[in-house]
Amino acid sequence: MKVAVIGTGHVGLVTCVTFANMGHDVVGTDVDSEKIELLTRGVSPFYEPGLEEAIKTETSSGRLSFTLDAAGALVDAEVVFICVGTPARADGEANLVAMEQTASQIARHAHDDVVVVEKSTVPAGTADRVRTTLQREGNGLRFHMASNPEFLREGMAIHDALEPDRIVVGVESAWGLDVLRRLYAPLLEAGAPLIVTDIRTAELAKHASNAFLALKISFANALARVCEHAGADVTTVADIMGADPRIGRAFLNAGLGYGGYCFPKDVAALKHLSERFGYPFPLLSEVERLNEEAVEAVAAKLREALWNLEGKRIAILGLAFKPDTDDVRFSPALALARLLLASGAQVVGCDPRAAGGAKEELPELELANDVYEAAMGAHALVIGTEWPEFRGLELSHLREVMTYPLIVDGRNLLDPADLVGSGFWYYPTGRPPVIPDTSRAEGGSDDGSRSAPAPRQPTPLP
Ligand code: UDX
Repeated sequence: MKVAVIGTGHVGLVTCVTFANMGHDVVGTDVDSEKIELLTRGVSPFYEPGLEEAIKTETSSGRLSFTLDAAGALVDAEVVFICVGTPARADGEANLVAMEQTASQIARHAHDDVVVVEKSTVPAGTADRVRTTLQREGNGLRFHMASNPEFLREGMAIHDALEPDRIVVGVESAWGLDVLRRLYAPLLEAGAPLIVTDIRTAELAKHASNAFLALKISFANALARVCEHAGADVTTVADIMGADPRIGRAFLNAGLGYGGYCFPKDVAALKHLSERFGYPFPLLSEVERLNEEAVEAVAAKLREALWNLEGKRIAILGLAFKPDTDDVRFSPALALARLLLASGAQVVGCDPRAAGGAKEELPELELANDVYEAAMGAHALVIGTEWPEFRGLELSHLREVMTYPLIVDGRNLLDPADLVGSGFWYYPTGRPPVIPDTSRAEGGSDDGSRSAPAPRQPTPLP
């Protein structure tokens, strides 16, 4: 089938390569000439595992091409996927200007019986707006609206697109459904579940899914606060909860909270949409508040451990919003860096992929090439992103280069058992800290630290 994809961001590009991989003829288009120039040379504009290889394979097979000329991309298309950005405005409302511009282009250049599919995450009711623009500007164009939300995760995007948990299609005509079924035939034959519904339900389901995942994370972070006071371990609490299939273990990891391009924007957009209908959805405001509190809690731990932050040097390992990406948009690690800088600390960061992006976002941030360079002279080290390479830290080397032996684990990446006897003060999130046994100097034990992680004394909640 002939497919046009408008917008070559994360969702758009993955849509391009995966439909080409399924054997369709795909043209990707974007208003960003630099991006199109990179793509035509087979270079991915951002890091996503496997994406650049897939771009090269599919463009050299002739099934995928890129162009700045949206009119040319649309003229033959049987299906058009709208994958443009829908960023949040200051009040949380989704900014749909690019959606409207795209609808105008489709109205002018597409041919009859084109299926117009929203893949961008949009508030329920957006398809009605797109339909109106197509009717107003389409000069009698016969078209079929559909919604086909994308649930891919950065870092796992190609896998998620080719092996989806579910394919959701919101349609309003048999034609639209038939075209989408044919388009997804290879995945449907491989057993991917298809959920067919109306367009508004499909639109809302995407916001609901992301908001619910954010809610799980904020729940885990609220529990972490309680566990810290109660001397309990939030990781094991989450394991026990997650063993119940009605709850599920995923997205119950406490830490610095969620970031990235989707969760913050989608929680805000769903809240804004509900408010517009007269229902303020206060649960979502609390999800957002708890997410900010997660970062503040790590800053508070540093303040407690270091007394004054002014003049202290703090190393943050990991700057991306999660591992396996170079994306720093709404990164909790950077939010923490901002708080620390505002408190007068010097902040040095390192990240296997996101260092450049982080420096652009936060020029006051010092960069180091690796963990040990970052740790040099630091009064504390914080795990900001759970990159697997930070798991195997050489603790004795770190102790030699750091000013104070202090680690605050904002992602619960390290195993507390490994810290026992290391001489480090180790503060995880929602788990008992490991603190060196200083009684040795007073004639106590000689292993250099407590043999088991020592829970803090329960203290009353504020
Ligand atoms: C998300 C959705 O998972 C995906 O379905 C949607 O299409 C786009 O948004 P993504 O933004 O790539 O994907 O990131 P995801 O892997 O979901 O993680 C989001 C954030 O939550 C990250 O900052 C991550 O560190 C954080 N997180 C995740 C936690 O803090 N705890 C967890 O248990 C899980």
